Amino acid sequence: MTKRLSKILIAIILAGCACVAATAVTAAGAAPPPAARAADVRERINIDKDWRFAHGHPYDAQKDFKHGLRPFFFAKAGYGDGPAAVDFSDAAWRKLDLPHDWAVELPFDARGNTNHGSLAIGRNFPENSVGWYRKVVHIPASDQGRRIALEFDGVYRNSVVWVNGHYIGTEPSGYSGFRYDITDYLNVGGDNVIAVRADATVEEGWFYEGAGIYRHVWLTKTAPLHVAQWGTFVKTTVAGGKARIDVDVTVANDGKSAQSFTLRQQVYAPDGKLVAQAEQAGRSVRAARDGEFSAALTVPDPRLWSIEEPNLYTMKTTLLQNGRVVDSYDTRFGIRTVVFDPDTGFSLNGKPLKLQGTNNHQDHAGVGVALPDGLQTWRLKQLKSFGVNAYRASHHPPTPELLDEADRLGMLVIDEHRMMGTTPEVRGQLERMIRRDRNHPSVIIWSVGNEEWALEWKAPGPHLAREMDGHVKRMDPTRRTMVATSGSGKGVSLEADVIGFNYGAQHDVDRFHRDHPAKPAMMSEEGSTFTTRGVYFDDPARSHLNAYDRQARPGSSLSIGEGWRRVRERDWMSGMFVWTGFDYRGETTPFGWPAVGSQFGMLDTTGVLKDTAYYLKSVWTREPMVHILPHWNWAGREGQPIKVHVYSNGDAVELFQDGRPLGRKTLVKDGQLEWMVPYQAGKLTATAYREGRPVATAEVATTGAAARVALSADKTDLKPDGTDVAVVWVNVADAAGKIVPTAGDLVGFEASGPIRIIGVGNGDPGSHEADRPADRHTFVPLSGWRTLAVDGAEHPAARSAAVDTSSWRDPAAWLPPTAQPPLTPYLVLRGEFPRPVLAADGRAALFIDRLDAGQAVYVNGRAVEPAPVDGGLMIALDGAQLKDVNSLAYVVPTPKDGVQGVFERSVGTSKWGVLRVTAPAAPWQRRVFNGWAQVIVQSTAQAGEASLTAKSPGLAPAMIRFQSGPAAR
Ligand code: GAL
Repeated sequence: MTKRLSKILIAIILAGCACVAATAVTAAGAAPPPAARAADVRERINIDKDWRFAHGHPYDAQKDFKHGLRPFFFAKAGYGDGPAAVDFSDAAWRKLDLPHDWAVELPFDARGNTNHGSLAIGRNFPENSVGWYRKVVHIPASDQGRRIALEFDGVYRNSVVWVNGHYIGTEPSGYSGFRYDITDYLNVGGDNVIAVRADATVEEGWFYEGAGIYRHVWLTKTAPLHVAQWGTFVKTTVAGGKARIDVDVTVANDGKSAQSFTLRQQVYAPDGKLVAQAEQAGRSVRAARDGEFSAALTVPDPRLWSIEEPNLYTMKTTLLQNGRVVDSYDTRFGIRTVVFDPDTGFSLNGKPLKLQGTNNHQDHAGVGVALPDGLQTWRLKQLKSFGVNAYRASHHPPTPELLDEADRLGMLVIDEHRMMGTTPEVRGQLERMIRRDRNHPSVIIWSVGNEEWALEWKAPGPHLAREMDGHVKRMDPTRRTMVATSGSGKGVSLEADVIGFNYGAQHDVDRFHRDHPAKPAMMSEEGSTFTTRGVYFDDPARSHLNAYDRQARPGSSLSIGEGWRRVRERDWMSGMFVWTGFDYRGETTPFGWPAVGSQFGMLDTTGVLKDTAYYLKSVWTREPMVHILPHWNWAGREGQPIKVHVYSNGDAVELFQDGRPLGRKTLVKDGQLEWMVPYQAGKLTATAYREGRPVATAEVATTGAAARVALSADKTDLKPDGTDVAVVWVNVADAAGKIVPTAGDLVGFEASGPIRIIGVGNGDPGSHEADRPADRHTFVPLSGWRTLAVDGAEHPAARSAAVDTSSWRDPAAWLPPTAQPPLTPYLVLRGEFPRPVLAADGRAALFIDRLDAGQAVYVNGRAVEPAPVDGGLMIALDGAQLKDVNSLAYVVPTPKDGVQGVFERSVGTSKWGVLRVTAPAAPWQRRVFNGWAQVIVQSTAQAGEASLTAKSPGLAPAMIRFQSGPAAR
């Protein structure tokens, strides 16, 4: 190690070579070498925009767009059929941007799975359980010679991907990111068709999981010599005022010859300054191989990453050939030390820190599992607002963006693998999680199992856990492993480094600690209470349960307060993760249908804090606060005693009713206060004290009748990028502007200008209102295709409503070239479709293709002029003119290759015509639930002023303005 801080000595271990070289590097700040052509250097392109979507079918091939029918389709490359074929016409499909969750657009149905939120998806709803996505991407000629990979962050589930009609791969799990190098299948200098079929018939978890491409999709373009996917691993150790930064790099050479290069590492500090640099010249990787390289750098006076100061460094890895940059890859990391100690619990950077955590699923009101990045950020901030410092991604890896944001906000994360196992498939998923996430400072531990009941106390459980632990350590020796356990069988958890206890009521944790003094521990789940936001008297008929903290299921779970007290009293217990932070769809305990949402959360599904979140705020934060529950609108209960609870981080609280003191009470540690107060309209006020001095006050007051709608947003300036979101609160207030805590009015929403509404919610676990109304298209294929060779464009064979086509030629019947009939100047092509069944506001349209420039089209013998829609031609149908059987006829100039040619170019006949029947989306509307609802709005790609209006019968309307992009001057 050099003694001079401006120079860094690096140790280089060359892959496949026993030699160790030491290189002194130039001082930080050396001039960068010339960049290669732009096309040589890495590009990562988000391709979420402009996909086409349609529902397919798990087993009915007709409803699955005739997919899987073509001979050889899974035997020969390039035989993808139906939507997997390049020529398939998707002009009639819905256009949408990702991320997308089609399950949240479906209606609720008693035959759905309550664990998944009783939406009409799964085995009982085959017509809703398969989704197809298609997209065309242009690959410019300048990409010739590059490697191009298609990367999905997650598709729920069982996704099959085709590119240009070629089968590319299958990923069974809905939670693992996956990547295909598609270079060899691409049409460089032209358009390329990506088709994805997802099948959500079978579920993975026991909670709402959504359906579809609900995470981002990327194209990554690199030179053949490049840093492999997730190909860096930055490890940090701090000693003597310096940080040692060890970096491992996997360099992939997808070229046909060995490549030599210079590998440069540069560390940039949080302020953007270059603080360390190392360079290894003369490195090489053989053709079609990966090479592993390592370097060590030193960062003087490191700024540590912590929850209060989440300082982030960047490691820039550069590959140079002949002085030109061929790849440049940034890895963000933090310098921090994490310890789980059996006696002192968790510590960060040497300081003990109780984990104040929540468990969360990826699920939010309105949008289901398809969370825009901004909404994930917003959710983390809501959690932080009441003192949460840790997040358990239950029970699968989160999105990469959630971890990016946790890094930025200083939120600690338990990153969790989906299922225990060591087979190539399961292990591959574990490996991908670790390689993807191991540079995030927020990730403090790998959870490799949760309540694996089939293995917890018997073979092969402990063995599997040991194997997985070993595998994790080989990929990441810097972090510990954990298995969360619910029962007495702790064999599995004992094989991991840290035991995660799910629910204190189900374990004798003190005895465990005595018996296993060397085992660090945490409460990986605690609470599991049931509370409905804003409800104070149980109303099981509406699936509502009161919001006072209590033991929900004595014997198997504790109250939030009791759970926390037990953790706080034990230094050796690293912390507690409440089950859950946010409410989520499904797991409707203790109710079944018609409840559709869980009630375990500290916040409802929209992110309104429930009272228990304020309890946690009182024990997890120091800024003086006091909170009173319930609200004070109890008309009809006049004179009856109402249970009033107060949470505060003061040491005493005094309560007043309409100014009259009801007594001052002292708070015991982790406790809460209770008064019984006879109701009368008016107000309750609480004053919190510390050492006799008032430090905070709160008030609940009886409101007037609902008078108006009110809108407020977390922000009104949006980026005009088509992804940025604002979270809009919708309240119903009295004439004085006070939120009416019992209001349940129905509010309608309209957006104008460059924003769109992407979801609505209200946090009511019993609500069956639509979160995300969407157009529903069904498709009826045209059938009975026959062709007739004719001499002129004007022929009665096309112009008649009904024609006997029994003697016409079947275009699907292949004839050897020698048996082809002589070519005539024109062809008539006739097909038929049944009368569509239309809902009252339903629409029907024929989608056809331009088979030839000179074509004429007839519907039931009447000439029609189809309107061009993006990617096809549309004929809107007038329901009154339709019959039981209807005809579509084309007259086209005969192509040189005759009928067979027309047929071949219209694979599966999808381009000849499909009947689209549309049930249009219901309008955007939602009842407020106990005074609150939420609308999530998203920017479009245009800049300008936008507004959202909210109207409710009998109430004054509200409007909120947004500015998307720079304001017009
Ligand atoms: C646990 C489980 C969680 C959730 C919770 C409900 O057993 O790990 O996913 O189901 O119970 O109380």
